[in-house]
Amino acid sequence: METVLSIQKLTKNFGKLCAVNHLDLEVLRGQVFGLLGPNGSGKTTTLGMLMGVVNLTSGSFSWFGETATHHTRKKIGAVLEHPIFYPYLSGQKNLELNAMIKGADPKNIAKVLDTVELTARKDDKYRTYSLGMKQRLAIASALVSDPIILILDEPTNGLDPMGIAEIREIIKKIAAEGKTIILASHLLDEVQKVCTHFAVLKRGTLMHVGPVDDVGKGEEIVEVHAYHDDLGVLLQEFVGSASIKRESGLYQVMMKDGFHSKDLNHFLFDKGIVASHLATRKKSLEKQFLEILSDTSHKS
Ligand SMILES: Nc1ncnc2c1ncn2[C@@H]1O[C@H](COP(=O)(O)OP(=O)(O)O)[C@@H](O)[C@H]1O
Ligand SMILES: [Mg+2]
Repeated sequence: METVLSIQKLTKNFGKLCAVNHLDLEVLRGQVFGLLGPNGSGKTTTLGMLMGVVNLTSGSFSWFGETATHHTRKKIGAVLEHPIFYPYLSGQKNLELNAMIKGADPKNIAKVLDTVELTARKDDKYRTYSLGMKQRLAIASALVSDPIILILDEPTNGLDPMGIAEIREIIKKIAAEGKTIILASHLLDEVQKVCTHFAVLKRGTLMHVGPVDDVGKGEEIVEVHAYHDDLGVLLQEFVGSASIKRESGLYQVMMKDGFHSKDLNHFLFDKGIVASHLATRKKSLEKQFLEILSDTSHKS
């Protein structure tokens, strides 16, 4: 698989604040790569550096194996901030202007309008568009130069559930057409629904990187001890246990999906057993991510 983006020790300090801290990442062609993290974790700053609109403090990155130049930038389409469209011009006219500025082939306009499902509304003025339609036009504008990569920063922010679902479908469609996509989001379920791979950022630091398929995996392990001769046998009766191991005098219960230490505690209690030790040793990935995403100590 061809490497599209390679990042080495990328760092951004804003004065004393380290917004992005020695970030290493690889994005391969065809991936829908999610940058997942709570507000203020450094996603937008990372994308800004990659797009050349934020100066990096240290580290480096390369697009298609080359250091970023005007030429490499042309292969990247981005929806970063709210793009500027003329309210009194139609979607079509706005895209024509965009295509002209970017030196893109105006023939692409019909296709990208179709991709974002705005063909029927292309002649209506931009100011009459819903928020979801405005966001779709922004995606169309990023696609008009037929880039290899599409970068999206929180593409569903502020949209209603219907608008969110539409944008997610469109992202999947664009990915199915073969584009590599990098998407920043603070929503685990968004990343799970549209991405193939993802990285988790917390306060500028990479916490995890891997395929999205892994999220559900990695069951919880609960360590338990009680003064009871048949504890090992009893634990096998617990409906939440996937398997049981004995290690240095403690039982390790691999929990089934959705079962936690308190369920085990309950089970023992019902049997009249009081645990002398009960500890969650490993949390499921999903639970770990949800904890990271609820990190509020660093909000921007
Ligand atoms: N221009 C700036 N000047 C100072 N601090 C900034 C600037 N831009 C971002 N930050 C800070 O950097 C951190 C990361 O912000 P950001 O990249 O926007 O996070 P995210 O996109 O994940 O919400 C935050 O603490 C934010 O306040
Ligand atoms: Mg952001």
